[in-house]
This record gives sequence, C-alpha cells and structure tokens, in this order.
Amino acid sequence: MTNHSYYCCTEPTCTRAPLTQGSDGLTCPNGHFIPYAPGTDVPVFACEPEGANEYSQENAAEVHDNALRWVFNTFQTDEEGLRERLIARMGLKKGQRVLITGAGAGNDLPYLVRALSGRGDIYAQDIAKEMLLAGVSRYRTELAASGVGLHFSISDATNLPFADGFFDAAYHFGGINLFPDIAMGISEMNRVVKEGGKVVIGDEGLAPWLVNTELGRMLINNNSLYACSAPLAALPATARDVKLSWELCNCFYVIEFQASTEPLPVNIDVPHLGKRGGTIRSRYFGRLEGVDPALRDRIYEEAERRGMSRVAFLESALRASLDKD
Ligand SMILES: C[S@@+](CC[C@H](N)C(=O)[O-])C[C@H]1O[C@@H](n2cnc3c(N)ncnc32)[C@H](O)[C@@H]1O
Ligand SMILES: [Zn+2]
Repeated sequence: MTNHSYYCCTEPTCTRAPLTQGSDGLTCPNGHFIPYAPGTDVPVFACEPEGANEYSQENAAEVHDNALRWVFNTFQTDEEGLRERLIARMGLKKGQRVLITGAGAGNDLPYLVRALSGRGDIYAQDIAKEMLLAGVSRYRTELAASGVGLHFSISDATNLPFADGFFDAAYHFGGINLFPDIAMGISEMNRVVKEGGKVVIGDEGLAPWLVNTELGRMLINNNSLYACSAPLAALPATARDVKLSWELCNCFYVIEFQASTEPLPVNIDVPHLGKRGGTIRSRYFGRLEGVDPALRDRIYEEAERRGMSRVAFLESALRASLDKD
C-alpha cells in the first residue's frame, strides 16, 4: 500500500494535523476520518457530488478528452508542446516534490514525470472523483516504473491536505476560473510551496486587446469563460517575481510567481526630505484631527522660516507642549 504519512487533516480546528494511515482510510489525532475511495487507496477529503457538473458525471474523462481536442484544434496548438512549456516554467529538478491541483484525468502527469528526470514525487489532486480516478487508472501503472512517486487525493484545491511549505513547486491548468474562491485556490498553492518555489497557473481568459475584437466576441459567445481575466488581484500580497503572459493564441492567461509568505521588504520608515517631511508610516498612522486652516498655514510658514519640514516642526511643537504640562 502507498505510504500516506504526508497527508494532513483539512478540518479548520485541526490546523493541518498529520494523519495516520489505516486499512480503509486516514485518521486524525482529533478523531476525523478520511476514507479511501471504494476499491482504491485514494483518500477522499472533499468530493464533488455525483453529476453536479461535467467533471463529476460518469464519463467525465472522455467528455474532457473531447473538450481538450476541441481546444487544441481550435487554437492550432500542439498539446505536448504547450504542457511541456508550462511545466518548464516551474524549473523542476530531479528529486523534487510537485503539486498539481485540479489535475483532472492526469494529462499532465507524463510531462511532470519527464520534468523530474526519473526521481521525485508528484501529488495530483482533484475534487471530482470521476476525473481523478480516471487519472489513477490511466497513469498509475503506466508511470509506475518511472522512478517518480505518484500520489493521488480527492480533495478541494481551496483547502489542501498538506503542510505549509511541503512542495518545491505547484501547478494548475484549466479549472481555476470555476473555483468558488479563486484567491483561496491561489493562496493554498502559495502556502504549500516552500519559500521561493514556483507557482504556475493557467486557464481560459482572453488577452485584454482581444476582448473587443470580433474573434474575442465570438469566443466569449461560444464559452463565457473566455471573458475571464487573469486573476491578478487574487494573488497573495507576498507573491514575488510575478509574470503574466498568454498561451493558445492569447486566449488562455498564464500567471507565474515565486511563493512567499514573507512580507515584501518595504521600509516604511525612510524619511522624506523636503517641505512636508515624515515617512510612509508617520503620514499614514500619525494623522491628527483637523485644525483651523489659518493655524495650519501659520504652522507651515513657521516650519519654512525655521528650515524644518512640516512634520519635524509639528512633532517638536507637540512634544514641547506636552513636556510643558
Ligand atoms: C478543465 S479540467 C482540467 C484538467 C487538467 N488540469 C487538464 O489540464 O487536463 C478542470 C478540473 O478542475 C477540477 N476542479 C474544479 N474545482 C476544483 C477544486 N475546488 N478543487 C480541485 N479541483 C477542482 C475539476 O474537477 C476538473 O477536473
Ligand atoms: Zn482533524
């Protein structure tokens, strides 16, 4: 049986407690139980109800194969080349650990295996068991001799069963537009990737200059997802080295960034030279009540006469008046 010791509980009260493996599922120290999908050792943390959408119907993987063929024929793009290019953006190295969210029927798995040069681990997750289990049966045996470990879970990409910083890189292609909380999907990828590791995300979304063209209008009429724009505002405030580009005839956006949970190194205490003075911090947090405008003008004049910045003069005047009492 596969070793599942890396999975963590996704219940909010358990703060990613490590799970223990049993014969029919995984157990949390706080008593939660995560069963395996029937007849498999694939843990089910969260699952789309059967028939809820095109990915959770019985023949979902075949329907998805057809949809993919349509995409690659329409945009006259070679699937192999595209998947290789997108995966190459993570800069994976032999022996690394990579996450793929919304992995579907696993079409990216052979390319990820190749990018890891025969050693490492791939963790593929999807919320639709019909898609993910098709991926398991398509690729687990085929890729078993590759030297790369394959780990599957049925789970929600917006609440991942992994510890912080567990992965070297994370990848998603083709589903995030429909996540109920896109920012949370991106935040989770950022959380589980170690500091400086790459996150790559792509989905339908026309480049802005195509939206109001006839081609753009036809595409959006055909499938409203093409009206989506790259969810840049949903990136974590800590993201580094963000890059936005488009693939598939500029009809799919691709966002790439370096994961980080560290605040940006902005020094908000650098003094401004000149008339006004102060710093980013003092100007934002040190604002006082409104005063008589005539008094304000006298203060400004006096500061100028003394060759001080307004902030420096005000601070000294206020300190002096407090010290007097
Ligand atoms: C268009 S398919 C893409 C599959 C695959 N990435 C590919 O490139 O062929 C989108 C996938 O995203 C999955 N998905 C949607 N919402 C999800 C969520 N919250 N968590 C995980 N997977 C999700 C769907 O179940 C579906 O399998
Ligand atoms: Zn738990």
